[in-house]
Amino acid sequence: MDFRERIIKTETLSKDIHLIRIRSERITDSAIPGQFVNVRCCSGLDAYLRRPISICRVCRSDKTFDIAYMKRGKGTSLLCNFREGDAIDVIGPLGSGFTMPEAGEKIAVVGGGIGIFPLLYLVNSCNDVDKTVFLGFRSKDAVVLKDDFERSSNKLVIATDDGTFGIKGFVTGPFYDWLKTNRPDKVYTCGPLPMIKSVAEYCIERDIFCEVSMEQRMGCGIGACLVCACKVKEGLDFGYARVCRDGPVFRAERLLFE
Ligand SMILES: Cc1cc2nc3c(=O)[nH]c(=O)nc-3n(C[C@H](O)[C@H](O)[C@H](O)COP(=O)(O)OP(=O)(O)OC[C@H]3O[C@@H](n4cnc5c(N)ncnc54)[C@H](O)[C@@H]3O)c2cc1C
Ligand code: FES
Repeated sequence: MDFRERIIKTETLSKDIHLIRIRSERITDSAIPGQFVNVRCCSGLDAYLRRPISICRVCRSDKTFDIAYMKRGKGTSLLCNFREGDAIDVIGPLGSGFTMPEAGEKIAVVGGGIGIFPLLYLVNSCNDVDKTVFLGFRSKDAVVLKDDFERSSNKLVIATDDGTFGIKGFVTGPFYDWLKTNRPDKVYTCGPLPMIKSVAEYCIERDIFCEVSMEQRMGCGIGACLVCACKVKEGLDFGYARVCRDGPVFRAERLLFE
């Protein structure tokens, strides 16, 4: 099957973060927030395995969707070579999505680093919902998509590790302060492991619905190789779930962060 689609636009959002807009009726018609695409980063054998990247924004009328990625290793460096008009091989939408809030509900979204990308699609897709968004970045230079989050949320709080933008320190600090006087119906989180673990445990202790999107390393992306396995509770015992097929979104109570 041919998974090639056309690139409509590429954009540099910060030194290491880039965005690609792709036209695809196949993907935009069925994508839901929390899902990802598996991208072929080049046509040769370099970075042969596809790389999973979250769907960050969808425009159904234009049949386009955005992916935003951090340049890290071979695969994402090769992605930087793509230009407007090029064909790109993308399989998707893949994985499970977030449980969408109901109208009138209050939600909190906690994202860190590359974990903010699936959360933008989520907040953009919630209507009649009270949305408070907490985003954490390393420093001012790494802050991206601020205006987009601002437009689609009721309140946006940004924290940077070094204090060069917003509140100084980890984003969990202002989120826990906010929880002292607010009780959201649902919390959604994605980002570095220590952050999502802390948010998940905090919500479980307070009996707050929480969903976590896991960004595990992947191999096949289609449930066959178990490279993406993560430890989950199974009754009184434990088992392994495949992030690519059973996730990437999981209820916080199900995950064993070990
Ligand atoms: C469901 C899902 C959604 C994702 N969405 C996004 C997204 O929207 N934007 C984005 O920038 N990245 C996202 N990622 C992470 C992205 O897939 C990896 O950064 C990418 O595969 C790295 O490939 P590479 O060849 O450039 O780096 P590699 O050469 O493979 O690795 C370079 C460095 O990145 C680390 N790394 C590799 N894979 C991952 C991973 N899955 N998670 C964390 N660290 C990793 C390695 O440990 C290494 O330090 C997502 C991952 C998953 C599983
Ligand atoms: S990546 Fe192969 S099973 Fe998930």
